[in-house]
Amino acid sequence: MRVAIRCLLGLGALLPAYAAAQDIVQGREIARRWCSACHVVERTGTEAPANGLPTFPVIAARADLTADRLRAAINPQHGRMPDLALSRRQQDDLIAYIFSLRQ
Ligand code: HEC
Repeated sequence: MRVAIRCLLGLGALLPAYAAAQDIVQGREIARRWCSACHVVERTGTEAPANGLPTFPVIAARADLTADRLRAAINPQHGRMPDLALSRRQQDDLIAYIFSLRQ
């Protein structure tokens, strides 16, 4: 038993990015704070807002969605998205949250 626990702890230390990417609750907070001015970020938000931007559940439902694509959208080089300068950790949390909206 002890060995198993130590083994799990060891894995967590080896894979910090993986552990960080699991923080869906934190991602939701970030989405509400930084994204909800323009996007509908809640699970129930399937209606497009008046600005015509896709809601997060609609984005999450896309079959071809990948974490890399989301990261690119969050870090826009061009386009109309503002550069919100989120930390890598915040991006991982957001991506975990958006993927959690998949039905
Ligand atoms: C100031 C308004 C604004 C805010 C705030 C904003 N966005 Fe956007 N977002 C846009 C616009 C406008 C587009 C359309 C992209 C374009 O035309 O360049 C977009 C597009 C996207 C897309 C791509 C959608 C697609 O159709 O492929 C994703 C994903 C996205 N935003 C995620 C986010 C996330 C995550 C946040 C919060 C960190 C956020 N946005 C905050 C305005 C905003």
